Amino acid sequence: MERDSDNTQQVKPDKPGVYIHTFGCQMNEYDSQKLYKIFEKEYQPVSDVTQADLVLINTCSIRDKAEKKLYSMLGELRGLKRERPGMMVGVCGCVAQQEGENIVKYGRGVDVVFGTHNLSLAPSLVQLRKNGAAPQVAVNYREEWEELPLGFADVDLTKNGQKQHVTSFISISRGCNKSCSYCIVPTTRGPEVSRAVEEIEREARIAVHRGSKEIVLLGQTVNSYGLDLQPRVSFVALLERIAAIPGVERIRFTSPHPQEVRQDLIDFVSSNSKMCRHIHMPLQSGSDRILKAMNRNYRRDKYLSIIDALKSRVPDMAITTDIIVGFPGETEEDFRQTLDLMDLVQFDNSYSFTFSPRPGTAAAAMQDLLSQDEKAERLQVLQRKQEEMTARRLASWVGKEVEVLVDNRNLNREGCLQGRTSQNVMLNFDVPYEGLKIGDIVKARVVAPKRFTLQGELIR
Ligand code: 5AD
Ligand code: SF4
Repeated sequence: MERDSDNTQQVKPDKPGVYIHTFGCQMNEYDSQKLYKIFEKEYQPVSDVTQADLVLINTCSIRDKAEKKLYSMLGELRGLKRERPGMMVGVCGCVAQQEGENIVKYGRGVDVVFGTHNLSLAPSLVQLRKNGAAPQVAVNYREEWEELPLGFADVDLTKNGQKQHVTSFISISRGCNKSCSYCIVPTTRGPEVSRAVEEIEREARIAVHRGSKEIVLLGQTVNSYGLDLQPRVSFVALLERIAAIPGVERIRFTSPHPQEVRQDLIDFVSSNSKMCRHIHMPLQSGSDRILKAMNRNYRRDKYLSIIDALKSRVPDMAITTDIIVGFPGETEEDFRQTLDLMDLVQFDNSYSFTFSPRPGTAAAAMQDLLSQDEKAERLQVLQRKQEEMTARRLASWVGKEVEVLVDNRNLNREGCLQGRTSQNVMLNFDVPYEGLKIGDIVKARVVAPKRFTLQGELIR
C-alpha cells in the first residue's frame, strides 16, 4: 500500500524544525515515527517544509514510480535550499539503501544518506555534515535488530491536523527471506530479522498508555516472525502475548504470506475476540504458472483453502489483497485465472499494480512481451471488477450491526465522528452523538454504503 504523508504541528520559535516526507508502506511510516523520536531532543516537527532546517525523505523503491518521486522532490528542495542556507537534506529508506553514494553524486544538494538499517546513526551524520564534513552516507546491513528509542514521537502523520493515537503500528520484523522474482525488498531491507518479544510487548504497553486501542503488527512476511530467534517464537505465540496485554482491544497484522499460514494461525485468528475480522493476504496472481515464475511458493488451491478455512469459521471475515498484472509472460489465460480467483474469493478490496521491473531482480531479466498499454488495460479491467465487488461487499452490510472503533473526526460533517469496523471499513456517523469520543468502541447499525466507506448510526 503506497501512501504519502506529511506531518502537522504547531511551531515553537526556539527549536529548529524537522520535516519528514514519507513515501511507501506502513513500515516506512513506522520508521519515520522513530526518526522524529530520534531527533526529538534537537528538532521539533514542522508541517511546512519551508520552515524546516532538516528535511528527510523516507523513500520507497517497490515500483519505479515511487522512486521517480524522490528525484523530483530533490529538485524542488534544491530551490528551497538556496532560500534557506544551512538547511540539511537527508534521504533514507529503500532507495537510500539501494543507491547509497549515487544519491549524493546524482541527487545534488543531499547532505546525508542513511539506509534501512542505520536510522540510529542519523543524528551523528547530520552533525558531522553540519560541522563541515563531506556529505555522509551510511548503508551497511546489520544482522541483528536495530533497536531504536522505544515508543512513539508526539507527532501526527495524518493530513488532517489531529493527533490520533487510537491505532499504533509496531514493527515486529524487518527484511524478507523470500525471493519473489519481481521484488526488491530482500535487497533494500536485507534478510529477515525478528525483534525480541519483550521489546514488542513493551512498545505495545506504551501504545496503550498513550491511548491506543488497536495494535497493528508490521512485517514484510509478518507471519514468519520469530523463526530466527533463539529460542524460536511462533507468530501465534506473539499474538497471544499481545492479546494478553490489558487495554489492547484490537489486533491486526500485515502482511501475512500464504505459504506460512498454518492451522494454528487460522485457529487463533478465528477464535480470539481481539483479533480483527480482516486479513490482508497478498495473492499477486491467480495463475499457477505465473505464481511459479514469480517464485511465490504456493498455488491458487492453497490460497483458496486458507480463505475457505477462515470464512468457514468467521463468515464475515474481510479479505483484501495485492495483485500484480502484466508480469513477464502473463497470457490472457493467466490473467483470466486471476479474475476467476477474484470471483471465487470475493475480495473486499485489493491493491493492484502493473509489473514494474526493479533493478537486480530476476523478473527484470525476463522477457516482457506485453506493451505498457496492454498492462494498463488489464489493470483497468481488474480494478473495475474490484470496484463492483467492493460495492457489493459494502452494500451487504446495510442493516447489520457492527463494532466500530472511533478514530477520527468525520471530515465531511462538522461535529461528527468516524471510525473503523473490525473488517477495517471506514464508517461515518452523520449526526453528532452526545458523549461519543475518539477512542470509544461502540456498536453501530450500517445505514448505507458510500463509494469506499459505510454510513452508520450509533446503537446506544
Ligand atoms: N512491480 C509491481 N508491483 C510490485 N509489488 C512489489 N514489487 C512489485 C513490482 N516489481 C507489489 C506487490 C506487493 C506490493 C506491496 O507491491 O503486489 O505485495
Ligand atoms: Fe517481496 Fe516476496 Fe518478500 Fe513480499 S514476500 S517482501 S513480495 S520478496
